[in-house]
Parts: sequence; structure tokens; C-alpha cells
Amino acid sequence: MSFTLRTMRATDLEQVRAIAIASPESPQWQPSDYAAYLSPENSTYNPALLRTALVAVAPNPNTRTPEEKILAFAAATLLLDGAQNLCQLDSIAVRPETRRQGLGAALLHTVLHWAAQNSARHFSLEVRAGNAPAIRLYQRLGLRPEGRRPSYYTHPEEDALILGTPVTAGTPRTQIGTVFHHENH
Ligand SMILES: CC(C)(COP(=O)(O)OP(=O)(O)OC[C@H]1O[C@@H](n2cnc3c(N)ncnc32)[C@H](O)[C@@H]1OP(=O)(O)O)[C@@H](O)C(=O)NCCC(=O)NCCS
Repeated sequence: MSFTLRTMRATDLEQVRAIAIASPESPQWQPSDYAAYLSPENSTYNPALLRTALVAVAPNPNTRTPEEKILAFAAATLLLDGAQNLCQLDSIAVRPETRRQGLGAALLHTVLHWAAQNSARHFSLEVRAGNAPAIRLYQRLGLRPEGRRPSYYTHPEEDALILGTPVTAGTPRTQIGTVFHHENH
């Protein structure tokens, strides 16, 4: 399958929220929670806090209907404190029917690229200790265990694992606008 990554727009939110609802392992945000990621100009209020949100879009062979199908999304925050410059992955989810086709990895690579471009020195995230698919994905991209928050999650109660990696010149990178072609297994 092929897909392209671009920044998230307000018009994507209905599909993005549907993907989140179909992915109970991901945070269940209200529409207002997404707003901060859609307006980069918000960062002028606090230039040390940057946010990004990306979507993966399916190719649209029908040029007469401009509506795009959103396949997956990711959102991240970067705190430029001059020390660690920590980038955190706040959410990632892929449509259940298009999982295991490289979308999650492509989104993460691109978030890491954005983080590196914006002077991040470290990247980390929290994940349910029992979320094996996500943990596999993160480990495959080089993230390593950095801690554990007991009973961090509710409904159901579960520990959070903290996984992270330094952001270096060698961090795998892809850019917005790249067209991905994934060979199905
Ligand atoms: C976790 C998630 C984002 C992964 O997205 P994805 O597009 O399916 O992942 P990819 O296809 O890019 O997978 C890349 C690699 O991750 C690992 N992986 C991904 N899903 C896996 C699974 N179900 N079982 C085992 N390994 C898996 C594999 O190593 C895979 O490479 P491979 O397919 O060549 O073996 C997706 O399963 C999802 O949306 N889950 C629900 C929401 C969620 O858990 N978000 C994370 C909250 S912290």
C-alpha cells in the first residue's frame, strides 16, 4: 500500500477522532485537545513549547472528489528548556484495518525527524506495559526502557513503561511529503 504524510488540519479531526475511538490504547482526547497541535502560531505564546501533529493519507485516485482518507495520526510536544530539549510522543494510532503496513513506523520516523530539526536532544513516551504491538514498534525504532510508573493508567489499571532514545544525527529520519510504499507481508 502507498500513503503520504502531511501535517494535520482541522478538517481531518472527524476522521482522526474516529481512529482514536477505534484505538482504546490511545488517549481519548476532546476536539479542543487537538486544537493546540493545529495552530503552530500558538507557540508564539510560549516559544519554548512546540507541537506537531501528522496524518498519513491514502492516495486518492478520484481527482473529482477531493476528500482524503486519513489512515493514521501522531502528535508530539517538544519542550525547549535548553538542557534536555525533550520531545514526547503524545498520541499515535493507526486505523485497525491498515495496521502492520508501516504506517506507525513512518509516523514515528517523521516525528523523530521533526524533533531533530527542532533541536530535541531526547525523545520519550509512555505506553501501557501490556501494549505489546506498540512496545515492539518502539523497540524496533531504537527506544529503550527508561522507567516505569506504577498504576499510571486507569480503566483498566496498568503500569506505564517509559521508553526513550537520544535524538542524534543518526536517528532514522523521514520527512513530511514522503510517499511510502509498503510491501504487504
Ligand atoms: C501501535 C501501532 C501504532 C503500530 O502501528 P502499525 O502501523 O501497525 O505499525 P507498523 O506496521 O509500522 O509496524 C512496525 C513494526 O512494529 C512491530 N509491530 C507492530 N505491530 C505489531 C503487532 N501487532 N505485533 C507484533 N509486532 C508489531 C513490528 O516489528 C513491525 O514490523 P513488521 O511488521 O515488519 O514485523 C498500532 O498497532 C495502533 O494504532 N495501536 C493502537 C493504538 C496504540 O496502541 N497506540 C500507542 C499508544 S502508546
